[in-house]
Amino acid sequence: MQGPGNTQRMAHAALVTVRAPPNVKPGTVIGDKYRIEREIGRGGFGVVVRAIHLTLDQRVAIKVLTEGEGTTETEWAEDAARFRREAKATAALRSEHVVRVLDVDVLDSGYPYIVMEYLDGKTLHDLTYTSPAPIPVEEVVDYGIQVLAALADAHAVGIVHRDLKPANVFLSTGIGGTPLVKVLDFGVSKMLAAASQRLTRTGAVVGTLAYMAPEQMLDAKRVDGRADLWSLALVLYEALARAHPFGAHTAGPKVVTAILNDPIPPLRERRPDVPPPLEAALLRMLEKAPELRFTSAIEAAAALAPFSSPRSRPVLEEIRRAPPPSGHAAPGFVSARGAPPSTSTASPSASKRAKAAAPRKAMSPVVGFLLAFITAALVLGLVAAFVFYVKPRLSAPPDVVATPPAPSAPVETAASAASSEVSVVSVAPVARPSASSERSPASAPSAPSRPAASVNPCDPPFVYDPATNVKRYKTECL
Ligand SMILES: Nc1ncnc2c1ncn2[C@@H]1O[C@H](COP(=O)(O)OP(=O)(O)OP(=O)(O)O)[C@@H](O)[C@H]1O
Ligand SMILES: [Mg+2]
Repeated sequence: MQGPGNTQRMAHAALVTVRAPPNVKPGTVIGDKYRIEREIGRGGFGVVVRAIHLTLDQRVAIKVLTEGEGTTETEWAEDAARFRREAKATAALRSEHVVRVLDVDVLDSGYPYIVMEYLDGKTLHDLTYTSPAPIPVEEVVDYGIQVLAALADAHAVGIVHRDLKPANVFLSTGIGGTPLVKVLDFGVSKMLAAASQRLTRTGAVVGTLAYMAPEQMLDAKRVDGRADLWSLALVLYEALARAHPFGAHTAGPKVVTAILNDPIPPLRERRPDVPPPLEAALLRMLEKAPELRFTSAIEAAAALAPFSSPRSRPVLEEIRRAPPPSGHAAPGFVSARGAPPSTSTASPSASKRAKAAAPRKAMSPVVGFLLAFITAALVLGLVAAFVFYVKPRLSAPPDVVATPPAPSAPVETAASAASSEVSVVSVAPVARPSASSERSPASAPSAPSRPAASVNPCDPPFVYDPATNVKRYKTECL
């Protein structure tokens, strides 16, 4: 993807591309469709401009991702492909609390860009630090619930934001002038994940560490929606306290060690009008171990609901109707499917209850093997019981009821029973449907006195000892 503004140089034995900055001057036309009106702002990954769609005369915001210096041509192409994929997934989100993605493409100069709906308003970061008075608690909770609506929608399809922060929570106005929260930059951090890793290797800090969940710092690949719950709680904490819990030094290694190890400073010391159960709910979202947090955005919304204004009711309804988090989440991120969202705030046992209510997982291969083994053993046991116990009883002549042997009679041992003849000490009269039942019952008692020249060795199929009153069945006749 070599554009006209690019030059190339060899570095570290790889073909590294150095690109001229993208041209985002007012009047420039992007992709033959959008004319840039003005620059709105710049962030860590790129520049955002306001533009107008030439045919539809519609105002849009375009984010041009300028990050990418020091990448090879192959990496650049991989990034562009990943970028398109992620943008497509994000564009499929339907919540009105996710900024609409309208288009995605790559500039001639090689920089990818995203076209979004244009929003009027300000970010939560701006409101937090520019409003003359602290934002009322109820209002902050209302914003949080709208963000949770966006998260519930995204988590249901397996999309994790990964970069929630006050600057990505945009406060716009909906119909009737009601505050409408739009979450920005969904999927952008994932679009840039590969590039970020490369930059991190070279020592640069990419992404917003100050809002990153501990597990995301340790292994960004394995995060699930609970990492977003952590980030949102920090955003809400900061909006209430007007300060990040770990202070002003949120850009360096100190914030990493603080997030990984330090307890969250009590919110009520900074903002005494926060009700204790609300603080408990936020602390639950800020548990260092993700399995101790709420299990889903749905559950978190239920915990925040009592502290919201009546304006949040329709949003809460929307969240309740949201499908549970997608199954592709990391182990332990269970959905609360089938169970009403818990309103408990501080007890980790709620997550255990939700786990119990979650649908059972598919049977593990080990359990399946054990069940198959037990079934096979039972079947074999039944067959053996039939051959060695039931069948001999069926073969006994109905007219012979053996009596217990006389005290002087030799006692049959297990060894003798296992010999070529099967001993029968007591035989109940049983009707025999088998071929042996066709023999004359009268012949049975007199079997020992039958002529030795009998051609059929199984007629009779036993040897009768009148002294012990025991019949020994010939195994070859069974
Ligand atoms: N759709 C939009 N409509 C209007 N303004 C927007 C829109 N998207 C972003 N902005 C604004 O553009 C500015 C730059 O946003 P950008 O996302 O680049 O910065 P950031 O969020 O501070 O950093 P990062 O790149 O880490 O997300 C911000 O002030 C943001 O509010
Ligand atoms: Mg942003």
